[in-house]
Amino acid sequence: MSSSVIILAAGIGSRMKSDMPKVLHPLGGVPVLAHVLASIAELEAERLVVVTGHGAERVEKAVAELAPAATCVRQGEPLGTGHAVAQALPALEGAEGDVFILYGDTPFITPETLERMRAARQAGAALVFLGFEAADPGTYGRMIVRDGALEAIVEAREATPEQAAISLCNSGLVCAEAATLHRLVPRIGNDNAKGEFYLTDLVAMARAEGLACAMVECPEAETLGINSRADLAAAEAAFQSRRRAELLEAGVGMTAPETVFLALDTAIGPDTTIGPNVVFGPGVTVENGVTILPFCHLEGCHISEGARIGPFARLRPGAEIGEDARIGNYVEVKEAQIGRGAKVNHLSYVGDASVGEAANLGAGTITCNYDGVMKHCTEIGERAFIGSNSALVAPVRVGDEALVGSGSVITEDVPDGALALARDRQVNKPGLARRLMNRLRAQKRARDRGKG
Ligand code: UD1
Ligand code: CA
Repeated sequence: MSSSVIILAAGIGSRMKSDMPKVLHPLGGVPVLAHVLASIAELEAERLVVVTGHGAERVEKAVAELAPAATCVRQGEPLGTGHAVAQALPALEGAEGDVFILYGDTPFITPETLERMRAARQAGAALVFLGFEAADPGTYGRMIVRDGALEAIVEAREATPEQAAISLCNSGLVCAEAATLHRLVPRIGNDNAKGEFYLTDLVAMARAEGLACAMVECPEAETLGINSRADLAAAEAAFQSRRRAELLEAGVGMTAPETVFLALDTAIGPDTTIGPNVVFGPGVTVENGVTILPFCHLEGCHISEGARIGPFARLRPGAEIGEDARIGNYVEVKEAQIGRGAKVNHLSYVGDASVGEAANLGAGTITCNYDGVMKHCTEIGERAFIGSNSALVAPVRVGDEALVGSGSVITEDVPDGALALARDRQVNKPGLARRLMNRLRAQKRARDRGKG
C-alpha cells in the first residue's frame, strides 16, 4: 500500500530566538528536519510535500539537498495546522493511499510508530491521530477517547475544566485516508479562540459523517517537539544517549560514553573502541576493530579495520584511512587516502593527498596544498619515508620507496627509490661555539662592573 507524506515546517519558531528556521538547527550533527526525513524513509512515500513559510528559501534549499524528490509549497501566513495542510493538498492530487502528516520540528517519531498508525488506518479508521500521556499537558490538544474510539480533539484554549484535566494529548501527527483529507480539510473553519484553522477539527467533522477515527499512543519521548533552545538541548541529550546505548549494544566499546558525541548517520563496526571525548560529525563510517583514542574530531571520513586514530587527531571530509594505518596526535587529514599500514604519527597536515601503503610521514610533515588560489594534490608512494618537518609543495609526487631528508621543502617530483634533500648543507665550525660564548660572557661581566 503506497502512502504520501506532508511535513509541516512553516511555523515561526519565535521561541528559538534565531534567524535560522528551527527545522534547520543541528541535532546529532544534521538538521532537525533530517531526522524527520529519516523516520519516514521506510514508508517509501510516493509523494513528499514540505510546507514552508518562515525562512522558506533556506528550508527549501535544505529540502532540495536532503530529499530531492520532495515538493515544497509555501504557506503565506501561518494560519494554523489545518491551513498548512490545505496548502499541501493540491500537490497530492491524484496520489493513491494514505497520507501521513508530520511536523518538521518533531524529530524522534519512530518508523514502528508510523507503522502502527498505518495498521490502525488499514483496520478501518479514516483518520488516525498519534497521542501520548503528557507529564505536563499544558497547551497540548486533549484527546477525547471513548470505548477505544477517538471522538474529538479539543485544543487547550477551548477545553472545559474536565477536558483540560485529560492527560492524553495530541502529538499532532496524523495518518489519514487521502479522500477524507481532500474532502474535509477545505471545510475546516477558524471560528475558535486562536482564529486559526485547526487540523484537529477533522476528528469531529469525520465523526459527524459517521467515519471512524482512531488514536495510536506512543511514549512522550517520541513526540518531543523543538520549540526553544532548551528543547533542542534536551533533544540533543536524548539523541546522544540513545545512539550511545545502541552502539554499546552493537559491540562498540566506549570508555566514557557520556563524553562521545555521535551524528545521525554515524556508523561504527563492532570491536571498535572509542576513548573519552571523541566527537563524530556527519558522514563518518568506521569499520571493525578500530581504536579511536581520546579527543579526536571526525567528520565525513572513513576508517578501515584495525586502524588507530589519535589521541587528538582531526579527520576532515574526504579522509580515507586504510587498514591498520596510524594517525597520531595533532594530525589533520582532509581529502586524502592513507594507505594500508601507513603512519602519520605526529603533528602533520595531510590534505588533497594520497599516501601509499606502509609509507611513513615523519613528525611535522605538511602537504602545502593551497597556493592562495587553488588546491593541488600530493602523491606519496608505497613505503616512502618522509623525514620530519618536511614541506611537500603540491602538485608534487614522492615515488615508491623514496626518501625525503628531514627539513626538506620538496617542490619537484622525487623518483621511485630516490633520496631527496632540499635544504642547506650543514657546516660545522670547530670550537666556534665555545669562543663565541666566552666572548659574550666577558662582555656581560664588563657591563655589570660598569653599573656597580
Ligand atoms: C498543535 C495541535 C495540538 C497538539 C500540538 C502538538 C492543532 C490545532 N493543534 O498545536 O493539538 O497538541 O500541535 O505539538 O493542530 N505549522 C505550520 N503552519 C501553521 C501552523 C503550524 O506549518 O500555520 C507547523 C509548525 O511549524 C509546527 C506544527 O505545524 O511544526 C505545529 O504547530 P504549533 O503551532 O507548534 O502547534 P499548535 O497549533 O500549538
Ligand atoms: Ca509546537
